[in-house]
Amino acid sequence: MSTFDPKVIVALDFSSSEQTLKFVESVSPEICRLKIGKELFTSCGPELVKKLVGQGFDVFLDLKFHDIPNTVNKAVAAACQLGVWMLNVHALGGREMMLAAKEAVDSTTVSKVPKLIAVSVLTSTNQKGLNELGINKTVQQTVIDLTGMSLECGLDGMVCSAKEAEMLRKEYGPSPILVTPGIRPSGAASNDQQRIMTPAKAMLSGSSYLVIGRPITLNDNPQEELRRINDSLKHR
Ligand code: C5P
Repeated sequence: MSTFDPKVIVALDFSSSEQTLKFVESVSPEICRLKIGKELFTSCGPELVKKLVGQGFDVFLDLKFHDIPNTVNKAVAAACQLGVWMLNVHALGGREMMLAAKEAVDSTTVSKVPKLIAVSVLTSTNQKGLNELGINKTVQQTVIDLTGMSLECGLDGMVCSAKEAEMLRKEYGPSPILVTPGIRPSGAASNDQQRIMTPAKAMLSGSSYLVIGRPITLNDNPQEELRRINDSLKHR
């Protein structure tokens, strides 16, 4: 039996169940995990999540919860019931909110307890944007500090850029799960991603899992593309 542990999380940035299920037919839980974000979840809801979980996929529910602690506690509890593998909150929701999220995960009755991670500063937010929010630290320092607070709250890790992964590994060591988007296999189009890294380089930089969307979802042969990426990780 294969013990391969897929590091690629395919971003299912589709707008309908039909498109999503058609794509999913071309891949399998042995070669990738899946990410459902706000667009697909808002269009298709929890039924699609349950369906993909039922097909054996590890699903990362990327809804970046950010609300009052009680609401986030209840939302995380509901996400646990869907059988997801991982979910996230927004660290800017603060310590009490993250503790409430962690409490929901810790008290879930489902057998498959999801991993809980946080987003710190969105990569679309630059220094000016951060300052406008009243945060007068550098982006880097804010990422480091919000990661520290997330880990203190008992969260399992962070979504971050591969560049930040390198910095966070130095600061917090090997334990945190670091999930990194902005990944492009060599030769793939960068699309709208500004700072990209290859899968192998991102793993070397400290990523635990790689979020990859369009290079796989828009590929004529997603399974072959995943095989190529997985091979590039084995041979590093
Ligand atoms: O198609 P692509 O590989 O660029 O998709 C990347 C995925 O990762 C998208 O779902 C996008 O929303 C998500 N993401 C990102 N950058 C972040 C956080 C999430 O690209 N900083």
